[in-house]
Amino acid sequence: MRRRRVGILISGRGSNMEALIRAAKAKDYPAEVTTVISNRPDAAGLKTAQTHGIETMCIDHKTCAGREAFEAKLEEQLLSRGVDLIACAGFMRIFSEAFATRWQGRMVNIHPSLLPSYPGLDTHARALADGVKLHGCTVHFVSSAVDAGPIIAQSALTVLPADTADSLARRVLKLEHELYPLALEWVAVGEVSLKGGRVAYSFAVKDQTRLLAPMRSAE
Ligand code: GRF
Repeated sequence: MRRRRVGILISGRGSNMEALIRAAKAKDYPAEVTTVISNRPDAAGLKTAQTHGIETMCIDHKTCAGREAFEAKLEEQLLSRGVDLIACAGFMRIFSEAFATRWQGRMVNIHPSLLPSYPGLDTHARALADGVKLHGCTVHFVSSAVDAGPIIAQSALTVLPADTADSLARRVLKLEHELYPLALEWVAVGEVSLKGGRVAYSFAVKDQTRLLAPMRSAE
């Protein structure tokens, strides 16, 4: 099967981008990272991608006449490289309805909360303030509504009494780095797809042991 060509969009650090690049180095991974594009020239992830030998590019949204102009440039670069799938990884721009529709089912994003709880920013602080006991991350198909596209996969952890927004961010990020390559793999091989606005799985989904929090520690 032909490896799918993935374009990764970033705006900053790029640790999820790096997790995808590392996963895609495996010979049997069904996708290859074709290009990394940032909307910010100072995104640290650009250097990281280069150290992995991946082509990078910056399309500074501030130099574009508006959202449509930015998206047109972006799409031109993606299409000229034969990109099949877009993976957003800390990409801080909202897509127009038209762009999101054109890439429907072919564009994914990772978000640091168990959506639909806590779309937007400061997810860890908001989860802590609400006192939720389970928190985590979500990979979803992108729609034009922010962090609201159909959910592909989620990974959860127990919120500990001593957790701070920083400790939660660190622990959730580890889950993100595991979840994103796995979810992208499913989309790349077509085991997960968008059918009638809902996510369909070609494999049987296992009923796993419940995650109940809090539980008394043995120590
Ligand atoms: C991650 O927490 C991701 O879920 C969110 O933004 C953060 C980006 O981090 N969308 P990084 O750039 O991948 O390190």
